[in-house]
Amino acid sequence: MVKALFPGSFDPIHLGHIDIALRAAKYFDELVVAVVGNPQKNTGAFTIEQRVELAESSLASHQNISVLSYNGLVVDLAKDIGAEVIVKGVRSIADFEVERQMAELNQNMTRIDTFLLVTNPLYGAVASRYIREIARLGGEIAPMVSAPVLDAIQKRFA
Ligand code: PNS
Repeated sequence: MVKALFPGSFDPIHLGHIDIALRAAKYFDELVVAVVGNPQKNTGAFTIEQRVELAESSLASHQNISVLSYNGLVVDLAKDIGAEVIVKGVRSIADFEVERQMAELNQNMTRIDTFLLVTNPLYGAVASRYIREIARLGGEIAPMVSAPVLDAIQKRFA
């Protein structure tokens, strides 16, 4: 049985993330989505607990996907839960370079491999930070997020 770990800030989870999770879940027996606290990103919209809730409700119908939260190194979490691979999405060359560096460092530390999935072009420009900004300024974010996230954002920025 191969378990994969999909870590991210998910503030909030969006359709690009969901697309990556659903595609990855087809290739692995279990996919664990980890909402990872990132002290360098303190301009977020939701608490870690809210992000977990939103990820859970966005992925609720998928039996081999679970969601948890974590503070610390992703490779330590992978070891703790017995995940053999890390899964990430890449939208662009800029994403690729960041992911390449993290994948290389994670591989150096623990020999864990990272599988990079190319983002569906429908979501190539979708990013949580833009969703937060558009929502804050009263723009339309419905095409980028699931129904539970839309509802939560509308309440958050009402
Ligand atoms: O959704 P994001 O913000 O691109 O996710 C980045 C995240 C949380 C996956 C990354 O910052 C991360 O892995 N943080 C945990 C700390 C860690 O393992 N750092 C070493 C990376 S080489």
